[in-house]
Amino acid sequence: MTKPKRQILVSNRLPVSIRQGDDDQEPTLQRSSGGLVRGLNVIHHEADSLWVGHLGQIENGDQELTKKLLDEGFVNVELDPNIYDRYYSGYANDTLWPLFHNFLASMSISDNHWDSYQKVNQQFAEKIIEILQPDDWIWIHDYQLMLLPQILREHDSKLKISYFHHIPFPSSEIFSAIPRRQELMCGLLGADYIGFHTNDYVRHFMATVKRVLGAKTKINEINHDDRSIKVSAHPLGVDFGAFSKPHPQETPPPAKLSDKERVTFLGIDRLDYTKGIPERLTSFARFLDLYPEYIGKARLTQICVPSRQDVDSYAEIRNQVERLVGNINGKVSSTDYIPVEYIFRSIPTAEVIDLYQKADVMVVTPLRDGLNLVCKEYVVSRTDSDGCLVLSEFAGSASEMGEALQVNPYDIENVAHTFNKALQMGREERQERMTALRKRMEEHDNRYWAQNYLEAWSQHEDGARSKSIY
Ligand code: F6P
Repeated sequence: MTKPKRQILVSNRLPVSIRQGDDDQEPTLQRSSGGLVRGLNVIHHEADSLWVGHLGQIENGDQELTKKLLDEGFVNVELDPNIYDRYYSGYANDTLWPLFHNFLASMSISDNHWDSYQKVNQQFAEKIIEILQPDDWIWIHDYQLMLLPQILREHDSKLKISYFHHIPFPSSEIFSAIPRRQELMCGLLGADYIGFHTNDYVRHFMATVKRVLGAKTKINEINHDDRSIKVSAHPLGVDFGAFSKPHPQETPPPAKLSDKERVTFLGIDRLDYTKGIPERLTSFARFLDLYPEYIGKARLTQICVPSRQDVDSYAEIRNQVERLVGNINGKVSSTDYIPVEYIFRSIPTAEVIDLYQKADVMVVTPLRDGLNLVCKEYVVSRTDSDGCLVLSEFAGSASEMGEALQVNPYDIENVAHTFNKALQMGREERQERMTALRKRMEEHDNRYWAQNYLEAWSQHEDGARSKSIY
């Protein structure tokens, strides 16, 4: 099988940030984590590769920092901050993000933002072309860069290009609402191999290609500009080793979680309106109404990681969440009990694992989510095979996690009852469910995702790419 000689990974952000040194000390590079980063690190650390992305401004094209980045395999795309803002906060996160998550009423339309989106995709292409060597394979990531595959294809029709979409792909009816639908779809079809997290998104994408471009398609294959483009589902996995910390089990697992003196529910999310945090809080309040025996005993710890704070809808959701937390706590708290513990900051991975291991019930209830790795991390962290996962059926991960207690996050009453069901579930059933989930997460970890993706892409490049599918 043909394999890439060198990989060029491309994402909006580079997985590093600059930490300014004190006084005369040199700035250092600080590595960031997150699902996309852990998935791609497998390739970046182990194969010959370069990672192209934006790092924020490097002062006056700082040559030393550029070299330091390059030594670590990173290439920064320098961008004008105003253009970046219109591309990132504007088109990517105020137009595409709501559209792809089915929040049509929140989608803003601005020609100015679209212009900046085009410019930034063009600038990414120019940087890639500058460093490109013969036989490089280019793997582009996510909705911020949907035009990039086609721009690169126009530069060289023989390039090997793949695109992976990390967020949901909506139905063709929803997608058709965006004014630039044809340009966006043509942009993606510059790739040879296109990946999504779930088969549903693949199906939606195939229907959209037909509806918007009238392209010829066969099962998960598209004929466009005399090329064959393969479309496939590859759900990202988590770094199993990194989250499998031995569990500090102090007492034997209870017959039922409700037998414990205190029970902890946990939510960890970027503060985003797609994550269903107000609905979750309302469900928790309803649970305390329906099952008052848990007042004084059950607590929800909700961590909200600040995100995209320059976008208005994100400021609004923060206000809404904080108001709700205040209302619930004001109504139910006593001098020695607070039902909702709310934390608005990012916390280090080691602390997150501790929280996972202590959480009796993990609540992952997005209204829409491309995949969601928090639910997978929770399961992997439960090396004691205990705990219970309540998971939204609208998270991409739901299709791989049938043993979770799956809920419709809009159905407040049912979610409240499901919280009780989790606490009433017997030890044996909890452990059976968790063991099955952990096993699947071990078999389909981030390494499996990266290797399997590359193999499938390579096979496609070997075979179908040049021959017509008709
Ligand atoms: O889930 C999609 C995604 O873009 C991820 O790739 C990223 O880690 C996350 O959302 C946060 O996005 P941002 O880079 O806008 O903070």
